[in-house]
Amino acid sequence: MVYLNGAYLPPEKASISPMDRGFLFGDGVYEVIPSYDGQMFLLDAHLERLRRSLSAIRLPDPMPDGGWRAMLQRLLQENPGADRSVYLQVTRGKAARDHAFPAQTAATVFAMVSPLAAQDPAVAETGVSAISVPDQRWGRCDIKSVALLANVLARQQAAEQAAVEAILLRDGLLTEGAASNVFVVRDGVVRTTALGPAILPGITRAFVLEVLRAGRQDCREEPITEADLRAADEIWLTSSTKEVLPVTRLDGRPVGTGRPGPVWRKALERYRQARVRATRGPGLEIHHG
Ligand code: PDD
Repeated sequence: MVYLNGAYLPPEKASISPMDRGFLFGDGVYEVIPSYDGQMFLLDAHLERLRRSLSAIRLPDPMPDGGWRAMLQRLLQENPGADRSVYLQVTRGKAARDHAFPAQTAATVFAMVSPLAAQDPAVAETGVSAISVPDQRWGRCDIKSVALLANVLARQQAAEQAAVEAILLRDGLLTEGAASNVFVVRDGVVRTTALGPAILPGITRAFVLEVLRAGRQDCREEPITEADLRAADEIWLTSSTKEVLPVTRLDGRPVGTGRPGPVWRKALERYRQARVRATRGPGLEIHHG
C-alpha cells in the first residue's frame, strides 16, 4: 500500500497527473526514513529537515501538526515487516506549465514503504568500491530536492564501474556522495565536510558525529581536499539506508590497507548500539535540532 493525497491504496491504483510540477520541473522535495521493527529511526530529525526543505522552496507544509507522523505510522502498519525504508515526496502539485509558481497550489503528497536490505556481512570483510566524479549539481544541495539528475548520472557512472557510490569533488574539495555523506579518517582523526549549501545535512552524518563524540573520538567538520581523500586511511559513506559503509577501493586503488578499518568498526558498533537504544520502545527517539 502507498499513500497519495489522503488515500491509502495499492501502488497500481495510485496515479498523478502528467501536469504535476514534480514531473514537469522536479519541483518538490523528499525524505527517506529508515524503520526498524515498525519504529522509525530519528523521525523528528527527518521531519525537521523536511520542514527546512519545504520552507527553502517556499512550499507550505501540507501536513503540519503531527500529520506526517500519523500518516507514516499508518502506512507502516499497512506494510508490516521488520526493516523498512519509508520514502515521502511533496511536490508543488498540478498546474498549467509555467516556471513561476501557480496562484493556487494544492501540493501532491506521496509516500511508500520498501524493504530495507540489511548490510551484507561480507562488507565488514571487504568493504565496497567507490569512484570519484566531478560534482555537477546546483548551488543548494542542502535542500533535499527530487531534482536529482546530476546524482543519477554520477551513480550510473559508478554502477557501470561496479562501484556502489560516486564520491563528488568540486573545485578540488570533497562534497559528498551521490546519495550519501562521506567521512575520511587519517591518523585516527575523523573528518567530514562541514555543513553548507554544497552538501545535504545528512541525518546519519549528524548521528554518527554525535555517537563518536560521546565516545571522545576526535571529529572535525571542515573542508577536505581531493588529496586528503586520496591519502585517507579509511573512507566511509553514511546514509539512512547504508548506515556506515566502509569504502576500501577508490577509483580502483586500495584505501589505506584495502580492508575496512578499526575506526569504522568502532563507529558502526556505536551507531548500532545507539540505534537499538533509540528504537527499542515508543517515545525513546533521539531528537536533533
Ligand atoms: N539519500 N547526501 C545525499 C545527496 C543524499 O541523497 C543522502 C541520502 C545523504 C545522506 O542523508 P541521510 O543520512 O539523511 O540519509 C547525503 C537518500 C537515502 C536517498 O536519496 O535515497
